[in-house]
Amino acid sequence: MSESLAQRLCQIIGERNVLTGESIGEHYRIDISRKYKSQPAILVKPQTTAEVSEIVRLAAAESMPITVIGGQSGTVGSAVPVDGGLAMSLERMNRVIEIDQLSMTMTVEAGCILQIAQETAELEGTLLPLDLGSRGSATIGGVIGTNAGGNRVLRWGMMRDMVIGLEAVLADGTIISSLTKMLKDNAGYNWKHLLIGSEGTLAIVTRAVLRLRPLPTSRQTALVATASFEQAITVLRRLELELSGRLSSFELMWSNFFEAMTQAQLPQRPRPMALGHAFYIIVEAMGGDAEYDLARFEQVLMAMIEENVTVDAVIAQSEREREAIWAVREDLSPGLTPLRPFASYDVSMGVGDMPAFVSKAETNMARDFPGAKMLFYGHAGDGNLHAIVSTGTLDADIQHGFDAAIFDAVRDVGGSIAAEHGIGIARAGFLSWTRSPSELALMSVLKDAIDPRHILNPGKIINVAG
Ligand code: LAC
Ligand code: ZN
Repeated sequence: MSESLAQRLCQIIGERNVLTGESIGEHYRIDISRKYKSQPAILVKPQTTAEVSEIVRLAAAESMPITVIGGQSGTVGSAVPVDGGLAMSLERMNRVIEIDQLSMTMTVEAGCILQIAQETAELEGTLLPLDLGSRGSATIGGVIGTNAGGNRVLRWGMMRDMVIGLEAVLADGTIISSLTKMLKDNAGYNWKHLLIGSEGTLAIVTRAVLRLRPLPTSRQTALVATASFEQAITVLRRLELELSGRLSSFELMWSNFFEAMTQAQLPQRPRPMALGHAFYIIVEAMGGDAEYDLARFEQVLMAMIEENVTVDAVIAQSEREREAIWAVREDLSPGLTPLRPFASYDVSMGVGDMPAFVSKAETNMARDFPGAKMLFYGHAGDGNLHAIVSTGTLDADIQHGFDAAIFDAVRDVGGSIAAEHGIGIARAGFLSWTRSPSELALMSVLKDAIDPRHILNPGKIINVAG
C-alpha cells in the first residue's frame, strides 16, 4: 500500500475511519469458522455510497484487492479479507432508510444487522421474512452476498426472492442503482440477480429495497416425531396443503442429532420429547386468525397421529415452550462443543434423494474414517441438509477427506455442495463437483467482464488470484 493511498483514504472518510496493520481487530480478519485468518493492510469504514465509490476508484488504481466485511457469520471464508488487501466494513452504513407500507418495501443500507431490520419492520406491522440463526450478527449486505436461506425459505423464499431493488458499486467505482419498488421489471438483463449470491466478487452492495409482508398475528409451533423419512415428508406435504399455505418452517432432525442436542442442554432445558423416534421435526405456521389457526393446527396434527403418520407431537402452549422447541435446533453450542473440531456442511438435493444421500455419505465416511461421528439435520422442506462430521481431530488432509466423502455422495444424487452458505475459500476447490465445465467457463467470463482486474474479493468462488 502506498503512503499516499492511506492519506487519501483519510481525506475521504476521516482518519478515525481508516485503520492499518495491527490496529485492525480480529473481527475484521476472520469469520465464524475461524479457519482463515488474514492480515489486511488497511480497514476502511465509509458512511455513504459515494465514499465507497471513491475508495474503490483509489484501490483499483493500485490493484488493491477489496473485501467487504459484514457480520462475519459466514462459514466458508467469503468475507475474510486478502492478506495485504483492503477490508471495507459497512458498519456505519446501517440505517433502515424507509418502510413503505403501501408498496410493502423496506429500503435499507447494506451494513444494517438483519435482526435490526426484522425488528424495525415489525414495529411498522410488517414482516421481513428472512430468518436464520445468525440474525443478530449477519448484515443485509452479507445475506444478499450469500443469498442466505434459513428457516422460512419454504414459504417466503431465499434472500433473492426478497430483493426488489439494489444499489451497488462496481470494480471501477461506478455506482449502479435500481432502487425500485415494483415486483415486476423485465426490462432487459436483471443484473441484481447476478450480484445476489456472488459473495462480493462482482460488486459491493450498498443499499437494497426489500419486499415485506403483512406481519402475521398468529404463530403455532410444534415438535413432531415420525418413524420414517417417508412419513416425515408426508407430514410436510399435508401441512403445506391442509394449513392452506401457512406452514412457514419445517426443520428435520435425525434421531442422533436430536439426542446429542437435547442431552447436552440438560438439566437447564428438559427434553421436549422422549428419545427413541427416528425423526424429529419442528413445524411452525404463521397466519392472521389466532383462534382459527390454532384450532386447525391442532386438528391437522391430531389427525396425523390418529392415522399413524406421526408417532408423537407436542404443541407449544406458550412463548417459553416455543422457545424451548426451537432451542433444540438453534442452541447448538452445548451439543456441538464435545464434537470439536468438526466439519460442517450445507448441501442440497431433491427432497426424495435425501435418504440415498445420507446413506451414501455414511458409507463413504465409514470407509474412509471408521468411527467418525455424523449428525444430520436441516431445512428439509427446501432439500437442504446440514451435516456435522467429527473424528476428534481435524487438519487440512482430514478436512479434504471429509469433503470428498460428503461431496461424492452429493454428486451421486445430483445435488449441490453449497445450499446456503456459499463457496468462499472453503468450497472453491470442489465447485466443479456441482458445476459443469461450461458453467464454470461462463462464471469466469462474467467475472472477467465485470471485474477485469480481479479487484473484488479475489480468491473466492472461482479461486483466481488477484
Ligand atoms: C443453520 C445454519 C448453519 O441452519 O445454516 O443452522
Ligand atoms: Zn441452514
